[in-house]
Amino acid sequence: MNFKDKIDSGRLPEHVAVIMDGNGRWAKKKGNQRIFGHKNGIKAVRDVVEGAAELNIKYLTLYAFSTENWNRPKQEVDALMGLLVSTIESEEKTLMKNNVRLLAIGNINGLPKDVAANLNKLIDKTSENKGLSLILALNYSARWEILNAIKNIVEQNKKEDFDVNKIDADFFESYLNTKNIPDPDLLIRTSGEYRISNFLIWQIAYAELYFTKVLWPDFRKINLYEAIIDYQTRERRFGQISEQLN
Ligand code: IPE
Ligand code: IPE
Ligand code: MG
Repeated sequence: MNFKDKIDSGRLPEHVAVIMDGNGRWAKKKGNQRIFGHKNGIKAVRDVVEGAAELNIKYLTLYAFSTENWNRPKQEVDALMGLLVSTIESEEKTLMKNNVRLLAIGNINGLPKDVAANLNKLIDKTSENKGLSLILALNYSARWEILNAIKNIVEQNKKEDFDVNKIDADFFESYLNTKNIPDPDLLIRTSGEYRISNFLIWQIAYAELYFTKVLWPDFRKINLYEAIIDYQTRERRFGQISEQLN
């Protein structure tokens, strides 16, 4: 029995989120520049998107660039932005073929104009696709998203008779970038780092966390299967006790 056959298709995570980490270390280990790792990271993205689509996973969120990543050397940031433009252009066919709908979260207006324009074009183009929703987190950080939500809540509810008790979890979530997207069930981080790095802090309150030492450019479908098989061994109690479940 191969790994894929071990997956119970009745208990798939609806939403898988991935902190794609380790590109730089992968390249350095091979005696190359960090950007060589980013280029090879795209192969992993392609394989994992295809793997998720084949499994009929509904949502896949990939953390591609954080608001903190602007603090990297300019040369690396520029190269990453260039890579984003060319990748977004070249992936159109594959997304259409696999019925993938592209979405983005993060401060998209704060990206270079060509990146934002290409991204919005592809989001438009794939908007009617009914298969996997692929969500790219670009110029994203959870604290930015939460602060942005608070600003919008205040800005859009400037009425004296506004009842603050209206602000429940559903209300708050309707102001997040992930509005209408279910919370991740499974969060994967590659490269052996055990931290969240400002990713989806609100949304992962009850996600199952999976860490692997595999560096992102080496990550393939089989590694996704392993993570899902591990996820399926977990008991998600959401504060209850075992006996209350089912
Ligand atoms: C992840 O790989 C990609 C981005 C954050 C853009 P890194 O570039 O962080 O690689 P490491 O962690 O330095 O090895
Ligand atoms: C997290 O990786 C951000 C992305 C994967 C886009 P980093 O490499 O930026 O995280 P830290 O700095 O090691 O926490
Ligand atoms: Mg890193």
